[in-house]
Amino acid sequence: MSQQTTIPLVRIEALGSHEGETVTINGWLYNKRSSGKIHFLIVRDGTGMVQAVGVKAELAPEVFEAAGKITQESSLSITGLVRKDARAPGGYELTLTDVKLNSLAEEYPISPKEHGVDFLMDHRHLWLRSSKQHALMRIRNEFVRALEDYLQSDGFIRIDAPILTPAACEGTTTLFETEYFDRKAFLTQSGQLYNEATCMAFGRVYCFGPTFRAEKSKTRRHLMEFWMLEPEMAYADLNENMRVEEEMLAFAIQKVVNNRKRELEVLERDTSLLEKISAPFPRISYDEAVKILQGKGVEFKWGDDFGADEETVLSKEFSSPFFVHRYPIQCKAFYMKPDPEDPRLALCVDMLAPEGYGEITGGGQRIDDMSLLLSRIEEHGLPREAYEWYLDIRKYGSVPHSGFGIGIERTITWLCGIEHLRETIPFPRMLNRLYP
Ligand code: 4AD
Ligand code: MG
Repeated sequence: MSQQTTIPLVRIEALGSHEGETVTINGWLYNKRSSGKIHFLIVRDGTGMVQAVGVKAELAPEVFEAAGKITQESSLSITGLVRKDARAPGGYELTLTDVKLNSLAEEYPISPKEHGVDFLMDHRHLWLRSSKQHALMRIRNEFVRALEDYLQSDGFIRIDAPILTPAACEGTTTLFETEYFDRKAFLTQSGQLYNEATCMAFGRVYCFGPTFRAEKSKTRRHLMEFWMLEPEMAYADLNENMRVEEEMLAFAIQKVVNNRKRELEVLERDTSLLEKISAPFPRISYDEAVKILQGKGVEFKWGDDFGADEETVLSKEFSSPFFVHRYPIQCKAFYMKPDPEDPRLALCVDMLAPEGYGEITGGGQRIDDMSLLLSRIEEHGLPREAYEWYLDIRKYGSVPHSGFGIGIERTITWLCGIEHLRETIPFPRMLNRLYP
């Protein structure tokens, strides 16, 4: 007989340390099967799922009867004995001694049958309870935490950038404009310009937050609101930038592969490629990338930026993330430093994910010369007043500096091996979607 006096409240992920004990779990009913003499309740609590077995002969009659009436996604508290069961999903099963209904759910709109994506997106607030969505969000959490762990242990400090801004960072055509009392403001496209200021104060910094692009694109790679983590380093050139990118990413990928095995299995992700990823990553120049494209029969004009189609072709040539550096300066943002060895090129770099996924990071070395920066602002037709503070960074102790931004959703899409980025963010904002 057990010596237990009070019944502990436990999370499903921690059941392993309670084998042979009677425990209570607070959760929701995920699914149920019943025969006349036995109920199988699949209960989820946010940390995992467990099968709870209710045998008629062993439960109070009113408890057994009530358990049979509990509907999908009702909230409930179950109490029972933890038993090891190798066949059970989490390795443990519960033999029920009590079931308490907390709130009976109405007929749940998402059933185990197949639903269309639009229907599921309209019910995104509920869809997040499903096991695939669960796996995606847990992997996202693990990945972001690993990126921050890497940076924090490498001397970076997190200093966040504002969301409401007076000026563009990534070109004026994709700005979301909003009223700011009697003035105009824009939702930030990137924290970079602010990072450039804070890295001169703190050396190595990063910001992490939502960023916005009013891109009328309806592709599997575009969100209007996406999350970007952006490191910026004083006294760093393009090579140092690439080194930090590859080491940070290799570290975070291995964390996900090792700590989120079960979630990757739920997603049926083949992890053999991911397991092999380590720094350094392959590096090719834009010119070399153009040659690869032309060799594959893709029609492409030197000077243009790569679009999704070109990136897909390039990305299928590699089995690890890889860098494409030194794009023509004409197709890049105003702040890019020209290559002293060929001023037609920018000291910039994109990282592309393999397996056809394409760009996941963008960055490079910034212009550190005051007069060059001023002329680039003018050439791009940007209002100087809005950038006076940014010019100050070059007036007071300018140094070579570099940084990049990693798009969280695009990276998770690739890591999870899914088709479209919309499921990698809890509530996606897309061209035709602002609800829920
Ligand atoms: O290449 P981008 O535009 O670079 C910047 O914003 C730089 N200012 C970052 C920096 O140097 N600090 O965007 C960076 C990354 C892309 O590589 C991509 O992963 C992601 O952000 N991204 C998007 N993700 C989803 N939807 C969109 N519309 C995105 N636009 C960019
Ligand atoms: Mg880019």
